[in-house]
Amino acid sequence: MTFSIGKIVVTLLGLGALTDAAATAPTRRADKTCTVIPRGGDLDDVPNILAAVDKCGKGGEIRLPAPYVYNIKQRFTTRLEGSKLELGGTLRFSDDITYWTNNHYEFDFQNQSTAWRVMGSDYTVDGGKTMGGIDGNGQAWYTYNKGQGNRYGRPIPLHIFKSQRATFKNLSIRQPQFWAVLVDTSSRITLDNFYVNATNHDYTASSGSNYITNTDGIDTYRSDKITIKNWVYEGGDDCVAFKGNSTNIDVENISCYGGPGIAFGSIGQYPDRYDIIENITIKDIKLQPSFQYQMKSGIYFKSWIGETKGTPPNGGGGGTGHVKNVTIEDVDMKDVGYGIYVNTCLNYQLSSDEVSKYCDTSTFSFSDMHFKNIKGNTLAKSTSYPGEEITFAISLLCSKKAPCKDLTFDDVDIKLPDDYDGPKVLCANADVDGLDCEDLDG
Ligand SMILES: *[C@@H]1O[C@H](CO)[C@@H](O)[C@H](O)[C@H]1NC(C)=O
Ligand SMILES: *[C@@H]1O[C@H](CO)[C@@H](O)[C@H](O)[C@H]1NC(C)=O
Ligand SMILES: *[C@@H]1O[C@H](CO)[C@@H](O)[C@H](O)[C@H]1NC(C)=O
Ligand SMILES: *[C@@H]1O[C@H](CO)[C@@H](O)[C@H](O)[C@H]1NC(C)=O
Ligand SMILES: *[C@@H]1O[C@H](CO)[C@@H](O)[C@H](O)[C@H]1NC(C)=O
Ligand SMILES: *[C@@H]1O[C@H](CO)[C@@H](O)[C@H](O)[C@H]1NC(C)=O
Ligand SMILES: *[C@@H]1O[C@H](CO)[C@@H](O)[C@H](O)[C@H]1NC(C)=O
Repeated sequence: MTFSIGKIVVTLLGLGALTDAAATAPTRRADKTCTVIPRGGDLDDVPNILAAVDKCGKGGEIRLPAPYVYNIKQRFTTRLEGSKLELGGTLRFSDDITYWTNNHYEFDFQNQSTAWRVMGSDYTVDGGKTMGGIDGNGQAWYTYNKGQGNRYGRPIPLHIFKSQRATFKNLSIRQPQFWAVLVDTSSRITLDNFYVNATNHDYTASSGSNYITNTDGIDTYRSDKITIKNWVYEGGDDCVAFKGNSTNIDVENISCYGGPGIAFGSIGQYPDRYDIIENITIKDIKLQPSFQYQMKSGIYFKSWIGETKGTPPNGGGGGTGHVKNVTIEDVDMKDVGYGIYVNTCLNYQLSSDEVSKYCDTSTFSFSDMHFKNIKGNTLAKSTSYPGEEITFAISLLCSKKAPCKDLTFDDVDIKLPDDYDGPKVLCANADVDGLDCEDLDG
């Protein structure tokens, strides 16, 4: 039988099949399908999407097919249990800055915001052959954000929250408002075949200014057993970033165009939180500039100063934790600012001079980190990075209070410009094998 509720079409096959399937729940019942067609014009499609999830989100299938574009004008949560969401079409978020600043989900880290939460277990979200997904309509946010980082209310379009055993695949996220994807308080999540692109089209930007700050590809927080593979990212911030309590994560085959690359952090920002990043393997990474923005760095680790100065999002510090058991291999970098670095002197609120005073105060620890087969070139552009100068191919600037332990480098060959004759590898308070380190003060 077929009946419709507004523009949602629900199809149920024989009742016998229903009874059988109910016995094996939460496995998906292919016989319970809800197809959502946009309401048309400027109407918000969140109500019809939610009605479909209500009907088919437990053991069924929800279809939002191509070529439809769904208007998303309010925050919403979809709960999927043993079900599938086929997202061949596009969720287009409104760019009503006032609405989103006042109506979003709070994310308990750096006062951030999210717009669409996906919760549940044993589910799949698949963009299919059209690679459907999200249009974050982010330009209004990029312009609004001019020259500022972590601006309040900029929502993350895809917040995977309190989810277990879920797969997200074949998805595109264009013009994300903020970070494209956040995996938070979740476990056993696979994110396979993603395309993320944040491009600024506001050419009133003077050259070199970056309006697309905070357009990370994916961040993980309080999550375990995550697989991130086959991604293409273009934007102005971290391609992949691990925040506190990111454990047992495999990252493979990621191509990043522009931004600071692969980030561990920031960590140690909250004095009352212990941040763990442990058991991380990263493999087959390509880093190159975009047509719009340089590759600022390649692979980097950033922990806050050991004392609390200011409050989040841009201030803080004094947090504890550890990064342990990290393997990074097969990385190819092209024209990257700073190839690999560890910076234990972070605080976005203090001036560079002020923050330098706290560079040896962090107790956050780094150990058991291994780098293999890293190739390419860096630019050795001088910078006054907050805290320390990190102009080199590799800078391992660990805190006196928590020296880095057991860092190994094998088959690492990063070229610097021909006319550059300064230091190549700089180390401080670091136990390093496989590199010719120059000391910070030497
Ligand atoms: C952010 O949240 C912290 C608490 O975690 C609070 O102290 C601070 O005032 C908030 N900042 C802003 C800009 O809302
Ligand atoms: C979707 O992703 C899977 C990998 O998870 C891939 O095998 C498949 O070909 C993709 N499907 C389409 C239609 O692109
Ligand atoms: C990202 O989008 C811009 C603008 O549409 C395009 O020029 C660029 O090639 C895209 N990047 C990738 C990696 O596809
Ligand atoms: C790497 O990921 C890209 C983008 O999803 C895909 O086109 C390519 O086939 C993948 N390469 C391998 C070796 O799987
Ligand atoms: C991380 O996990 C540890 C151990 O379970 C816990 O003590 C700590 O508060 C967690 N940190 C965060 C940021 O949730
Ligand atoms: C390090 O992490 C890998 C998985 O990323 C795991 O297989 C290995 O057992 C871990 N090693 C230690 C010493 O915990
Ligand atoms: C890291 O991997 C090792 C070896 O598999 C395991 O014993 C340990 O519990 C893992 N650490 C975390 C935080 O999951």
